[in-house]
Amino acid sequence: MRRYQRDEWPIRHHPPQREITHRGYHRYGAFLSPATAGTGMSLVNWRRRSRKSDVSEVSDEWFASHVDAAQQVVAFLADAGLSLTDKRVGDVGTGDGIIALALALSARPEQYVGWDVNPVDSSGLRGRARAEGYCQELPANLQFDVCRPTTLPAPDESFDALITWSAFEHIADIGAVASDMSRVLRPDGFVFAQVWPLYFSERGSHLWQWNPEGFHHLHQSMDEMRAQIDAGPGDEEWKQYMWSEYRSLNQATLDDVQHAFLQAGLIVRRCELYSHLVNIPEAVAVNQKLSSLMIAGFKMILSRQVEPNTR
Ligand SMILES: C[S@@+](CC[C@H](N)C(=O)[O-])C[C@H]1O[C@@H](n2cnc3c(N)ncnc32)[C@H](O)[C@@H]1O
Repeated sequence: MRRYQRDEWPIRHHPPQREITHRGYHRYGAFLSPATAGTGMSLVNWRRRSRKSDVSEVSDEWFASHVDAAQQVVAFLADAGLSLTDKRVGDVGTGDGIIALALALSARPEQYVGWDVNPVDSSGLRGRARAEGYCQELPANLQFDVCRPTTLPAPDESFDALITWSAFEHIADIGAVASDMSRVLRPDGFVFAQVWPLYFSERGSHLWQWNPEGFHHLHQSMDEMRAQIDAGPGDEEWKQYMWSEYRSLNQATLDDVQHAFLQAGLIVRRCELYSHLVNIPEAVAVNQKLSSLMIAGFKMILSRQVEPNTR
């Protein structure tokens, strides 16, 4: 497998992947380009930028990488013979809503509801989509709603499919959220879940912009990490945002996620891992499970367990 250079590490939470071509876009996909690495551009900055004259190449890459994530969801489901077309779909931890927008448009669900504990800036999303030439208006089948940390604002068994992308490493109580996902899912429904990077993996800190050394967070003190961020690139708002993202990481492993879903009556039926060659610092290698260090993330499809879990 190709080794990635420091400047190529993904912007925030998408694993290395191919370049994409979509609706006239040909971008670096999830990668930082050498021209933009280290500038500290962010979702926070993006939210302030809705006029075309303000759109930079970095924000293009952010948007394009999220459209690419949506395409990965569609492809992963299609490989399993599943689709979101004409279904009622919920998205747990929808973030800025770009993936939701891309899925609402391209997968043609009857309804796509993006939930997040933080409100989605719909008008900002529309402005950005216009500026990118992606669409003029948000589609009628797309809605956003604020959820509580452990409950989704939806009736029992009201959704055919649930999507969650890059959220299960941030959700504080994954057991409670998995349980509520199970509650709102129809009996014959399915869940698509993705996470990258898991906490104990090489890039698990999400802080590679300030420390490119793999696994650094597993042997550094909090003070050391914070000092590196303070001394490194990026504006204060971006640094604060990424530090709080780091502090919100729940340290769940693949097995923890499986356990949370299993307790909620949802079983993993299909799973693909993100893993690649790594060099492990000695202090980390002697203290952590190899499987935790090596499993950088996953995509999975879950369905409801027919018999209750009695174990
Ligand atoms: C890294 S972002 C991913 C956003 C989006 N899925 C994406 O990939 O662009 C994680 C999101 O999970 C949300 N989140 C954290 N805890 C949550 C919870 N208990 N329920 C719903 N969303 C949550 C955060 O607010 C954040 O927007």
